[in-house]
Amino acid sequence: MSLDKPYKDVPGTTIFDADQARKGYHLNQFCMSLMKPENRARFLADQEAYLDEWPLNPRQRQAVLDIDLNTCIEEGGNIYFLSKIGATHGLSFQQMAGSMTGMSEAAYRDMMVGGGRRPEGNRLKDLDGWTPPVPGEKAETLRENAPARYTSALFTSHVPAIGAAMDLGKTEEPYWKKVFDGYQWTRKWAKENTPDVVILVYNDHATAFDSSIIPTFVLGTGSDYPVADEGYGPRPVPDVKGYPELAAHIAQSVIQDDFDLTLVNEMVVDHGLTVPLSLVFGELGPEEQWPVRVIPLAVNVVQYPVPSGRRCYELGRALRRALDKWDGPELNVQIWGTGGMSHQLQGPRAGLINEEWDNAFLDHLIADPKGLTEWQHMEYVDEAGSEGIELVDWLIARGAMDDQFGGGAPETNHRFYHVPASNTAVGHLVLSNPVATPESAAAGGETEVPASEPVPGTATVPATV
Ligand code: DHB
Ligand code: FE
Repeated sequence: MSLDKPYKDVPGTTIFDADQARKGYHLNQFCMSLMKPENRARFLADQEAYLDEWPLNPRQRQAVLDIDLNTCIEEGGNIYFLSKIGATHGLSFQQMAGSMTGMSEAAYRDMMVGGGRRPEGNRLKDLDGWTPPVPGEKAETLRENAPARYTSALFTSHVPAIGAAMDLGKTEEPYWKKVFDGYQWTRKWAKENTPDVVILVYNDHATAFDSSIIPTFVLGTGSDYPVADEGYGPRPVPDVKGYPELAAHIAQSVIQDDFDLTLVNEMVVDHGLTVPLSLVFGELGPEEQWPVRVIPLAVNVVQYPVPSGRRCYELGRALRRALDKWDGPELNVQIWGTGGMSHQLQGPRAGLINEEWDNAFLDHLIADPKGLTEWQHMEYVDEAGSEGIELVDWLIARGAMDDQFGGGAPETNHRFYHVPASNTAVGHLVLSNPVATPESAAAGGETEVPASEPVPGTATVPATV
């Protein structure tokens, strides 16, 4: 089940992948600091003192002092980053490349003038016993007894005012109580079903990303994500702990599965991510810890074109294939889809709510997610308001569920709908994949589960305040 990394064996070559990037993170960031003339001057004046400012391991540190680029590369450095060290010392790219070959500068230059190094004897193909890798097939079925178990999907709106109501102690006020009552079941359930890690799909609201960069899908591969200051001061909640090893594994698998994710190691997280955590795990102060590790997955819905529901669903499937390939420690994984439901925050049509459409969306999400992928952007915007487009986030969590890979249909554990919270219709669902019993595992991992029905008494009639 291990991931396809045939590039590991190309002679005299180190491919810079997520594992290398993680190993060389501080080394590469140190190199980037040398892009500033004042830093280059400080480094050259006292290299040891400058390096004291960077958490390099002893081997990395010594390799920088020795301008030993081969060791730097072994230690996770990448040549484009490392070239900043060479440039600081006045070396050309040819001098740097030549320094790694064991040849003298003159011999390397002469070799290049003579047509360069010939590939014969220098490629994988020339190694005895090498066979080309078989192109990977995309799994359409589940892996039995996978160490990473996708147990439940959770879907919820992520209105910032809900976070503010919690932060300001207003949850018992009649307006807010109606919202929080819909999460009582979930809070209790979450205590008994705390996963190890949540892949939290949300959309950044011009917080971590601005007009300078507009990535369609961002996977958080870092270890910590500070809570953002969105203009009101940061929410008084814990910072978020990531899961870099699992995130790097997901990045490798999903990108090989033709999804070109943007990988982000450092970013702040906004209400789109923290409000769902608060709704599910309750009021926790900044000194406490969330009970789960979180891998943020941010979808651009700010600037068009935004990804389609179909694309999000397919990303969910790629995510599940990645989880099924995990051979690390056993993990209980949940995927959350957040944002929506109907709302429009702009222009003369602000305040639009479409209860019928929202409930049809929930029905289809439960029973017909494939059909839901046919719904076009225009439909979301026209029917659910310009910000209702956030609902495409939910399709990622749903596309990864067992029944989309020939497994049993999910159980609907909880369904809630309420109008309003601030400008928004609040929707919330918890769906669980069938639990594998010994018999069902023997029968191919499929469990017979009756068609899901909304849980009676959990949906509230829309109410206005
Ligand atoms: C509101 C809802 C959102 O999803 C959001 O991102 C910002 C504001 C609101 O209803 O006020
Ligand atoms: Fe939002």
